[in-house]
Amino acid sequence: MEETIYRGLDGVNVDTSEICFIDGEKGELIYRGYDIGELTEATYEEVVYLLWEGELPTRAQLDAFRATIAEDFAIPDAVVDLMRRLPHDAAPMHALRTAVSALAAFDPDPDGVGLENVRRIGTALLAQVPVLVGTLQRVRTGVDPVAPRADLSIAGNFLYTLTGEEPTEAATRVMDTALVLHAEHGSNASTFAARSTASTLTDVYSAITAGIASLKGPLHGGANTGVMKALEQIGSVENVENYVLETLAKPNGRVMGFGHRVYKVRDPRAFILERVAKQLAEESGEAKWFEMSLEMERVMDREMAKKGREVKPNVDFFSASVYRMLGFPADMYTPIFAVARISGWMAHLFEQYADNRLVRPRMVYEGPRGKTFTPIDERG
Ligand code: SDX
Repeated sequence: MEETIYRGLDGVNVDTSEICFIDGEKGELIYRGYDIGELTEATYEEVVYLLWEGELPTRAQLDAFRATIAEDFAIPDAVVDLMRRLPHDAAPMHALRTAVSALAAFDPDPDGVGLENVRRIGTALLAQVPVLVGTLQRVRTGVDPVAPRADLSIAGNFLYTLTGEEPTEAATRVMDTALVLHAEHGSNASTFAARSTASTLTDVYSAITAGIASLKGPLHGGANTGVMKALEQIGSVENVENYVLETLAKPNGRVMGFGHRVYKVRDPRAFILERVAKQLAEESGEAKWFEMSLEMERVMDREMAKKGREVKPNVDFFSASVYRMLGFPADMYTPIFAVARISGWMAHLFEQYADNRLVRPRMVYEGPRGKTFTPIDERG
């Protein structure tokens, strides 16, 4: 019987979920019933509460959630030392994956997968990963880390532990929006990696480490860094067209920040991030990255139209210029994506552990059969 193969699990539904709905044809993204455009005014903590509890919090619920998170911001000194000891030119996603994995060794109950323990670890990771990323940037540049502050939000503490300065309201607001937009996206590669890992009933730290490992790839979360490195290589609006044409001329050439397995139109998050990038371009005086991005989209639209295709900007495209204008180095963009996606990964892990089934797909064997063993001394 001819077996059907779904390479890349393209179009395959592996489970049901109540967290996120994506309409790839219409370009719609919904978190727990709210269109993503409705949530950009919310703080990241409100949206995490929504993803985890299923409804936006009341003021009292949000205050209690924030108080719980604030208890967990501090990271073990030994993990800071570990990050110090890594080569300072190590890729930040290698360092982050290593540091998150190391946190398990300092957890009093790292392996329990009961919902209460999973929730406890998830909240700790939600609080600590932004601090890990901010601290990593300081130690790898030879600057002493600063301790997180209980009075700051997740976005605020990320900025504070990164820069050592009290973040402005405006920068915290932009960070909140960026974290909200990157928080959750259904069964993307890293979320599937986390859920598949958790399906063996291994621990949360292992599942989240799997998610970070997957997110790092340039076809997934690594694309935002890829976009910035391309813009830095191109250097000016005038050189954008040549870059795109040369990239498309290469076998399997891919322009980072464009295209998506599900969206067949522009990613709704790209519209929002474009507005943020435009506003920052006007305020920061660094408009060239935004202008180069607009030119890149113009050339891609023209070239893809020649192929009868629409390959449009995804979430990673304008986030690159947003982060550049906020002053972040390009190789820190994917760690920032991981900071945000802890919330989505954990929402999915709550679902996975609550009603688990081991993930175990099959392969159609096309190798040889019936071969006879020959002892090593008789083999040619
Ligand atoms: C994220 O899944 C998620 O939800 C992920 C994410 C999330 O929030 O978790 O949305 C975040 O990962 C966004 C995607 C970031 N990745 C990139 O920007 C990398 C560049 N994009 C491509 O590599 C690609 O678009 C993928 C990997 C994202 C999706 O690829 P598919 O679905 O496997 O599609 P494909 O590679 O088979 O391309 C289909 C066609 C091809 O034409 P043909 O060669 O068949 O004629 O579209 C073309 C491709 O050439 N195409 C591109 C392109 N993306 C697709 N051509 C040029 N540049 C691109 N970026």
